[in-house]
Amino acid sequence: MYICLEGIDGSGKSTQIALLEKWLKDFGYDVLRIFEPTNSPTGKLIREILKDPRATEDNFQKTLALLFAADRMILMETIKAAEGSGKAVISDRCFYSSIAYQNPQGVEDLNRKFYKDWLYEINKFVKKPDIVILLDLDVEKAISRCDGNDSFENKAFLEKIRNRYLELAKSNDFFVINANNGVNKVHTDIKMVISPKIGRCV
Ligand SMILES: Nc1ncnc2c1ncn2[C@@H]1O[C@H](COP(=O)(O)OP(=O)(O)O)[C@@H](O)[C@H]1O
Ligand SMILES: [Mg+2]
Repeated sequence: MYICLEGIDGSGKSTQIALLEKWLKDFGYDVLRIFEPTNSPTGKLIREILKDPRATEDNFQKTLALLFAADRMILMETIKAAEGSGKAVISDRCFYSSIAYQNPQGVEDLNRKFYKDWLYEINKFVKKPDIVILLDLDVEKAISRCDGNDSFENKAFLEKIRNRYLELAKSNDFFVINANNGVNKVHTDIKMVISPKIGRCV
């Protein structure tokens, strides 16, 4: 089982993954926790570029799209090995983050489709998660939960990302959870998504 938590920064992915990992381990599951970008040299390069004030600009986004796809391809080996040994894999972000983030701003629909097709193409060999949980959070709340000083915490930008996530959720059967709620309520909602898949009660 490959589970991915998605959502804008501050939506509670790290918090909820820690709780989910503990819950699954209490049931006796062996869990592998992964995250994107990874700690590979490519992942480190991605983190450096993300700190650049120009990171949201179009050519930076294209570069990031390629680097994320490369970083993710290497991660597939880790996922395959974990699944082969019966582990549950929980990922902080996945391929869908690229579709939500590395998409150009302010271009007409035709170009956007052209670009989106390219994003799918460069991620063609990436394994899609079995379950995607989208933690949906109001942008203002996300900003107040974060420290407020990176280029991805711009309100208008985050609104676009949030809406793209919601579009993706519809067309890809994500489980959408209201992340405005308290930590325990969100955790319960996540357990309600996972428990039928593993034949357990919440
Ligand atoms: N449901 C919640 N209600 C209030 N604060 C939360 C909630 N979930 C997480 N937080 C806090 O918000 C901040 C961002 O959460 P985090 O789990 O790091 O989000 P992400 O990994 O998606 O960026 C942290 O300080 C965390 O303690
Ligand atoms: Mg996090």
